[in-house]
Amino acid sequence: MNLPTLIRSEARLLLPTYERQPVFFTRGRGVYLWDAKSKRYLDFLSGIGVNALGYGHPAIQATLKRQAARLIHVSNLFFHEFQAELAQRLTKISGMDRAFFCNSGTEAWEGALKLARALARAENNNGHKAKWRILALENSFHGRTFGSLATTGQAKYRHPFAPLVPGVNFVAFNDLEDLRRQFDSSVCAVCLETIQGEGGIRPVSQEFLQLAGELTARSGALLILDEIQCGLGRTGRYFAYEHYGVMPDVVTVAKPLAAGLPLGAILTTNRVARGMHPGLHGTTFGGGPLSCAVAITFLEVLDDLLENVQQIGEYFRAQLQMLATKHTFIRDVRGLGLMLGVELDSPDRAKAVVQNLLQQGIIINRTHETVLRFLPPYTIEQKHVDELIGALDKALLVKSVKLPIRPIIGHKLVARSQP
Ligand SMILES: Cc1ncc(COP(=O)(O)O)c(C=O)c1O
Repeated sequence: MNLPTLIRSEARLLLPTYERQPVFFTRGRGVYLWDAKSKRYLDFLSGIGVNALGYGHPAIQATLKRQAARLIHVSNLFFHEFQAELAQRLTKISGMDRAFFCNSGTEAWEGALKLARALARAENNNGHKAKWRILALENSFHGRTFGSLATTGQAKYRHPFAPLVPGVNFVAFNDLEDLRRQFDSSVCAVCLETIQGEGGIRPVSQEFLQLAGELTARSGALLILDEIQCGLGRTGRYFAYEHYGVMPDVVTVAKPLAAGLPLGAILTTNRVARGMHPGLHGTTFGGGPLSCAVAITFLEVLDDLLENVQQIGEYFRAQLQMLATKHTFIRDVRGLGLMLGVELDSPDRAKAVVQNLLQQGIIINRTHETVLRFLPPYTIEQKHVDELIGALDKALLVKSVKLPIRPIIGHKLVARSQP
């Protein structure tokens, strides 16, 4: 199968949900990917933050091989040996008490929202209406399912699917006054990404997170942090909220947790768990033996990588800032650890830079129109950063780039009744 054939087949057979880059990857090793023509790419996106250990990590391969041969799935109707151990490790590093395992980020987020409403009902034993309002942040992104969309503060994701889940209000990003104004005793949760990812790599401010923590703690509402993109080592600590010293009531994780297998988790406290009982929430696939066994291995490897994320992250950030002094159309350099963003002056320039880097054999992506997003594997070394910076320096001088091949999106409609 070659790329043009693949593009034509997908255009005919798949829902037109993606505008893929015209690259056909066939294998990966370390921080590199290779396409079908054996061109090598340095990966500074890692499958949107999933492949934190890069490709073909020996410890992950060994666990995959061993566990795939023993047991892949049993459903949540029975016990297997890995959920409790994984929960033990995740609660230890997060300061939470309990875990629920699912299959993706959006599913973790949906479950977290349900926890807030369920606890509000369970604690409402005084005859008043239970807390129900959820405060989310403008510019946020929490996933594609209805609850996640309802709390995603970007019109382009929400509007095509309205009406969404009711009871959600949006607070202006990092606006303390707006948070104070909208928060009252009807709020069951304040929910936010500790560092907004899709929204352009924007860390929430210390003051804002602290205020959200104080208001929720005082009223009994929950502080729910989405660490699906910024959690599990991405910022050089296990969780981004550790940089702030503010403890959430619920935290969601996913992306790198099972090193490429689909696995998400909700982590929470014993108090919040009182809102749940058997039958109230569940999943068929979530937390199977294969993904949990791999996640345990991921966490074991992660322990020794946090320092590298911190050190290389600082070096990387300093190099990006150096570029910002040279290229006047760099508006900002943001982020923590190996979750970094460079805001440019225009969407066209950002698009051209991503395309040019791809031609040079380096993978990044563009988010929020103008922001170059860097989410490399935690295993990158200084020489990889230097390679990226050299290529980016060149790419920033390129005005526009012609794409070699565009995906074909045209679709012929065929009536359902047609034979
Ligand atoms: C912060 C955040 N929350 C939720 C999600 C949704 O995760 P998933 O795509 O696994 O459903 C994402 C995905 O990019 C994300 O970055």
